[in-house]
Amino acid sequence: MLGSSSVLVNNQESLHSEWFAGRIIDWQQQYGRCGLPWQGADAYRIWLSEIMLQQTRVATVIPYYLRFVDRFPAIPVLAAESEEMVLAYWSGLGYYSRARNLHSASRIIMQQHNGEFPHQFKDILALPGIGRSTAAAISAFAFHERCAILDGNVKRLLARYYAIDGYPGEQKIEAMLWEKAEALLPEKNVAIYTQGMMDLGATICTRSKPECCRCPVQAGCVAHRNGCVALLPTPRLRKKLPERKTTFLLLRNGSDILLEKHTGRVIWGGLWCPPQLDIQIPGDIESVRVYCRQFFNVEVINVLALPKFLHTFTHFKLHIFPLLIDVAVEDTLKAQETGMAWMGLDDAQCAAIPSPVRKLLQEIQKNCWES
Ligand code: ADE
Repeated sequence: MLGSSSVLVNNQESLHSEWFAGRIIDWQQQYGRCGLPWQGADAYRIWLSEIMLQQTRVATVIPYYLRFVDRFPAIPVLAAESEEMVLAYWSGLGYYSRARNLHSASRIIMQQHNGEFPHQFKDILALPGIGRSTAAAISAFAFHERCAILDGNVKRLLARYYAIDGYPGEQKIEAMLWEKAEALLPEKNVAIYTQGMMDLGATICTRSKPECCRCPVQAGCVAHRNGCVALLPTPRLRKKLPERKTTFLLLRNGSDILLEKHTGRVIWGGLWCPPQLDIQIPGDIESVRVYCRQFFNVEVINVLALPKFLHTFTHFKLHIFPLLIDVAVEDTLKAQETGMAWMGLDDAQCAAIPSPVRKLLQEIQKNCWES
């Protein structure tokens, strides 16, 4: 049997949770984000939105989301399409493994769930690309299930609210945060509560310059009481990201550009990119001429080194050295034998290409560097 003091503590905790959730729900209805295109939509659209919103802001996602659901309005349509077509509609959003997982999950749903998005939390969690927090968000929004989320914004909010010291990515700290997130869940209105937690984290309890004076749960926030909001959550001890170099060989034949499709589950896997050499090579015409003759069977007419730039991935930084190489090609169809293709600059912009390649191609088109 529980002692009277633990009954008291449990009662206090549940009263506190009720107060907290009530404040979040009221605040969401008054000040939270409403009218987002996926709110109140079906499970497929909610799933898609949650995947697009991983690591990407709402304002960036909206146009991609609208274009995507217009082209792939239901799971069977998505599953029937090629990965390449799906990637083309994802092109520019980044983190392409999200699109590859989405596509392979749609095929699993066709095979294992008769094309209907699963309702059970465990089945949702088993799909590729869906972790615990995303599965919970989908369950809460689409099926009104009582499931706690813990995305980056909510981690920050709870680390401050309970003044939890330690990097939230650390297993022990994350486990504590999950416990708190579960304990705060309301009995009813889970979808509004979940949206409220996301909205509060994204708009008030922000990483820098949080607006505590507008926070509905300020009265209970331990970090606010202790004056340590700015110190939480504890940042990760940052290791310097490793740096790599690559040369982009932008072979141009008139207004066509040579692209090759990266295969497998590599960075940019499934996307079209210019041939790359993972070193910085000298841009002098003689070295390039010998290389291009040997590997692409083309005659080099001119070489222009474009400004180098930096692209940052989650795990490394890539210094990109683009060389615009004007060439003469006898047979453009021959490229297909090696998984490459000559594409018109306009067509290439509509293909599945990564953002830095898109920017480069736009630059090339805009500047019309002379052949
Ligand atoms: N971030 C992740 N999911 C979200 C949602 N449903 N609304 C707004 N921001 C989000």
